[in-house]
Order: sequence, then structure tokens, then C-alpha cells
Amino acid sequence: MKTIGFIVGSLRKDSYNLAVAKDFAKLLPAGFEAKFIEISDLPFYNEDLENDAMPESWKRLRTEVAAVDGIFFFSPEYNRSVPAALKNALDVGSRPMGSSVWGGKPALVVTASPGGVGGFGANHHLRQSLVFLDMPTLQQPEAYIGGIHNLVKEDGTIVEDTEKFFQLIVDKYIVFFNKLTA
Ligand code: FNR
Repeated sequence: MKTIGFIVGSLRKDSYNLAVAKDFAKLLPAGFEAKFIEISDLPFYNEDLENDAMPESWKRLRTEVAAVDGIFFFSPEYNRSVPAALKNALDVGSRPMGSSVWGGKPALVVTASPGGVGGFGANHHLRQSLVFLDMPTLQQPEAYIGGIHNLVKEDGTIVEDTEKFFQLIVDKYIVFFNKLTA
């Protein structure tokens, strides 16, 4: 069984990005499972805490990320970039220097927004960090999901056409993943 870590950049319980992530989890093929990795409880990265005072949540994040085979990121766009909580999670997992838990994990970036450009700015800011973190990231299809408020139904499920597009993204990712990890 391969495990994909699911990281959602929004902390709110009714998050559209969380709804998208839950849908992607359903679309994974046999042999793959989703593991949601919490980022809401991580204190801001501060190198002074890399000692006995290290927050338990930092240890948990590092252990959980190290254990998964790939990572799917689902993020809103905040002021044309990623939410601070998501950037903080990247920073926490990247340290201490030389012990980053991100390196080499095949990644997928999905951004969803009620706005028309679908979080394009956040998507590409996140990709900039992933280049430095040495995470090979699926290039196509690009996943800028605009007008998300019209695509998530009242019960939190996703409209059929959009779900078909999500399935295409998952299928492409699996081919990408299998090539990289063969
Ligand atoms: C936003 N929002 C937003 N939307 C967008 O398309 N581009 C942007 O730059 C921003 N900036 C922004 C900043 C801050 C601080 C907030 C709180 C919101 C709106 C955002 O897309 C909307 O709130 C989404 O619903 C957030 O995603 P979740 O929480 O539904 O996953």
C-alpha cells in the first residue's frame, strides 16, 4: 500500500479546499490511501525551539511526512500567495538543515478559490518552495479550480463534471508517481 499525505492549507471547518481534498481521497485507485496531515497546531517556526523545548506538533508533522510516499497539497489563495499556516508547515518540515522530510516526495498542487483565477498565484508560490524542497511536482493538468463555491454541493460533494476532471488529475499523478518510484 502506498500512502499519500494530504495537506490542506485552509484551517476552517467548512473549507472548500477541504471538500476538494476529501473528494480526491475517494478517487485514489486501489493500492493507494490518503493520510490527512494536520497543520493547524504548529507553532510558527523558530529555530530556538530545535532543542528539548521542541513542540510535539513539530515532531508529529515531521514523523508523518517522513512516513508517506507522496504529498497532495490543497490550498486557498491568500493575497495571491499561500496561507501562512501552509508556508509554516513547509518550513517546520524543512528543518533542521539537512534533515528535511520533504525531499524527493512526488507532489501534486491543487488550488481552489471562489475567484475566477482559481488560486493561480498561490499555486505558483507553492511550486516555488517545492522546487527548493526538491519535490518533483506534477505539471499537467494544472489544477486551478475557480468558482469553487458553485462546484461544491450542499452535502460537501463535488459536481460530476468537476469530479471527472479531478479523476483525470489523479490518474496522471499515479502515472507520474509510478515512473518516479519504479
Ligand atoms: C482570501 N481570498 C482570496 N481569494 C483569491 O482568489 N485570491 C486571493 O488573493 C484571496 N485572498 C484572501 C486573503 C485572505 C486573508 C482570506 C481569508 C481570503 C478568498 C478565499 O479564496 C476564500 O475565502 C476561500 O473560500 C478560502 O478557501 P477555503 O477556506 O474555502 O478553502
